Amino acid sequence: MILLENVSYKYDDGILALDGASIEIKEGERIALIGPNGAGKSTLLTLIAGLKKQCGGKMKIQGKTGIVFQDPDDQIFMPRVWDDVAFGPINQGIPNEQIEERVNWALESVGMQGFEERAPHHLSFGERKRVAIAGILAMKPNVLLLDEPTANLDPRGVRELWNLLLGLGGTQIIATHDMGIAAKCDRIIIIHKGKAVWSGTGISKEVLEKYDLA
Ligand SMILES: Nc1ncnc2c1ncn2[C@@H]1O[C@H](COP(=O)(O)OP(=O)(O)OP(=O)(O)O)[C@@H](O)[C@H]1O
Ligand SMILES: [Mg+2]
Repeated sequence: MILLENVSYKYDDGILALDGASIEIKEGERIALIGPNGAGKSTLLTLIAGLKKQCGGKMKIQGKTGIVFQDPDDQIFMPRVWDDVAFGPINQGIPNEQIEERVNWALESVGMQGFEERAPHHLSFGERKRVAIAGILAMKPNVLLLDEPTANLDPRGVRELWNLLLGLGGTQIIATHDMGIAAKCDRIIIIHKGKAVWSGTGISKEVLEKYDLA
């Protein structure tokens, strides 16, 4: 379960990215976070992931979170794909014999088996994105936070990612501009000017227009 009450966050330069956001997400829900550029979606995800501390309000996060950043280059840093994906589980103290299995499973899940020995910085953007996702999957978080996971993926990659998400258990929070993906989630939350302003399924054109999404 994830509970945010009136959460605010101000960046060092004074930008108020979250301005009293209140959100409740049940265990096992697949949530789409939508909202225009600069609304606060990425900031919200990093707070839920525990990478930043809120400036005001209350937060309650149950379970182990794993976040896939909007930009894979913020995530990938090892010289070899295999090491990058193995980094998380190794740091979690997973026994050695299970690491191989985890890495293989994670790379296969994102369709990147065969890339183990490649240098991540020589991969295409979409391939790097998949490696970044694999690195988080390999840690088996209960709460999976994905920031624009389908951006720069080809149509088949988008379909495969969606099928992967359907097959994984746990809570998933997906920040996306892809309305097709959003519509398939259990519930949509609209973030607008640092607040959660709407939640539900089946958004009307009026709501989309009201929140600068049409
Ligand atoms: N590191 C930072 N320092 C200062 N301000 C920031 C920083 N990162 C984001 N912001 C500001 O915080 C606000 C929210 O940004 P955020 O990245 O959370 O939006 P977003 O909803 O994820 O947008 P997008 O759809 O473009 O990814 C914006 O006004 C942005 O300019
Ligand atoms: Mg963002």
